[in-house]
Amino acid sequence: MGTILKNGKLLVNGEIVALDILVAGNKIVKIAPQIEGADYKIVDVSGKLVTPGFIDMHVHLREPGFEAKETIATGTASAARGGFTTVACMPNTRPVIDTPATVELILQKAKEEGSVRVLPMGAISVRELGKELTDMAALKEAGVVALSDDGVGVQSSKMMKDAMHIAVELGLPIVAHCEDDSLIEGGCVHEGVFSEKQGLKGIPSEAETIHIGRDIILAEATGAHYHICHISTADGVRLVRDAKQRGVKVTAEVCPHHLILCDEDIPGDDANYKMNPPLRSQRDRDALVAGLKDGTIDMVVTDHAPHTAEEKQRGMALAPFGIVGLETAFPLMYTKFVKTGAFTLQEVVDRMTKVPADVFNLPYGTIEEGAIADITVIDLETEKEVDPQTFASKGHNTPFTGWKLAGWPVLTMVDGVIAWQADDLNGKGEVH
Ligand code: DOR
Ligand code: ZN
Ligand code: ZN
Repeated sequence: MGTILKNGKLLVNGEIVALDILVAGNKIVKIAPQIEGADYKIVDVSGKLVTPGFIDMHVHLREPGFEAKETIATGTASAARGGFTTVACMPNTRPVIDTPATVELILQKAKEEGSVRVLPMGAISVRELGKELTDMAALKEAGVVALSDDGVGVQSSKMMKDAMHIAVELGLPIVAHCEDDSLIEGGCVHEGVFSEKQGLKGIPSEAETIHIGRDIILAEATGAHYHICHISTADGVRLVRDAKQRGVKVTAEVCPHHLILCDEDIPGDDANYKMNPPLRSQRDRDALVAGLKDGTIDMVVTDHAPHTAEEKQRGMALAPFGIVGLETAFPLMYTKFVKTGAFTLQEVVDRMTKVPADVFNLPYGTIEEGAIADITVIDLETEKEVDPQTFASKGHNTPFTGWKLAGWPVLTMVDGVIAWQADDLNGKGEVH
């Protein structure tokens, strides 16, 4: 028994080629122009783009502790709908992912209730309080793929340096939320012309860039693999570009919202535009796009950060930071960057598949014979408006409501099993 994905459009060295894919067990067994076989389940994906399953190295699944915002079940269902087959979940849960027991709990729940593969990240400091390092060796043993205090910056340079030394020994990346607390003081939007005009407290770019600069120096001194979360500033991109040129082991990720929006796009007191780091200036946004294009920024992630409607209704000053992203990420990237000609389809797909796999040393992210069958099928034609009410995520907090986008995933296969498939793929009678 196996499954044939029939007549999909595959990207082969940047060209689109119509091919069949045979999946048996959890592997891609064969890729060829015509694969026949009576024993196989046939899924007709004619005219649809077939890519490796997307990999999102920055997701907040909220469980344990904040199940009103999201659960492993709803967060991974949201991932599947967004075309993601692997998500790395951040440790700012309650309890924080700072002990093997919490890692195991998440892996167990993901196995029982998850639609996609979940890779936990372990905390750098106990309870993410920045006071005491976690037992990183024990966290690695339990299965974390990286170390991060995401949600807060590691304030102490000494602590960051110690963490990097241990991370080198363990062969784990340090994944950093870059934010100097002494510079933020209750800010809720980017500090600049916009915050002044609106009378809102600002978060200056330096709050991010000081940490990036400091940590690049520490990564160079320790030899650690240092990965920067949700980069948002032009100066941050410049620092990373320079560090890469000098051979420092630094990598970076960027979110669709920082590539597409800037502070001037915020319509008013709407917390669906509130996230950390904030939407920056137009100049910053342009530098992020250029940085992703030239490879300074390695990958696209969502920083999917669901909150309840009640929390987000508190307004710009009081609502928690964060927006959801799993179900709009690829349609946004496709519509805003591929359809406009700014990026090739291959560039965008690579930055959501092969590149994160390579950077984090994961055995996923490619479609080839013998590979693990993580596959996403995408309708590049149909335009649809973003409607958060249709999300599988519990979080509806997005600034993209009503945006007309193309590039919607219609089927997601994880480890050889169809994790999700759109009703209309069924409706056309294409599944036999
Ligand atoms: O916007 C954000 N939301 N940024 C973070 O760093 C944390 C995240 C969250 O956990 O809600
Ligand atoms: Zn963060
Ligand atoms: Zn985050």
